Amino acid sequence: MSKEISESELKVSKIKAGTVIDHIKAGTALIVMEMLGITGLEGTVATLSMNVPSKRQEKKDIVKIEDRFLERKEINQIALISPTATINEIKDFKVVNKFDVELPEIVKGFPRCINPKCITNAREPPMQTYFVKSIEPLKIRCKYCNTDMELNDVIKQLTKFQGLTH
Ligand code: CTP
Ligand code: ZN
Repeated sequence: MSKEISESELKVSKIKAGTVIDHIKAGTALIVMEMLGITGLEGTVATLSMNVPSKRQEKKDIVKIEDRFLERKEINQIALISPTATINEIKDFKVVNKFDVELPEIVKGFPRCINPKCITNAREPPMQTYFVKSIEPLKIRCKYCNTDMELNDVIKQLTKFQGLTH
């Protein structure tokens, strides 16, 4: 490990219990936090590192959330935004479970289709179904109206963010 990376890793302390989402696509940590519904006002203890040096990627974001373990749907949402992310579950300061997020070939139940006339926008409960055509860059195709959505479209549907600039 280079000196530069080891020093940057030391900036954020270890957590006792909860989830560390590591290797997040650089610059997207706030989007991940919003998808998880974390604003800070609910009292969640969390730290964000953005655009820090990484061994695997040039830069990455890291999110540490204390006392929370993610559900499958939340992990799948993260996979749409950041297919490189690693989930580390921490108990008693130790990593007890580590896995990569995985984007399934078919995404169900979210996000909203960008086609306002799509039948999935008129139905409850959510019936969205998308075929993943490409992971990087992201392209998903609505099963019902064949509309393609890219990363920016997904971000706009899942958050109040107006998308990435690049
Ligand atoms: N971590 C933490 N609190 C702990 C244990 C680990 O915040 N009690 C964080 C580490 O800082 C790191 C991530 O969880 O960001 C994964 O920890 P670990 O598996 O020990 O690190 P690496 O071996 O570097 O992970 P990887 O191989 O996935 O890069
Ligand atoms: Zn559609």
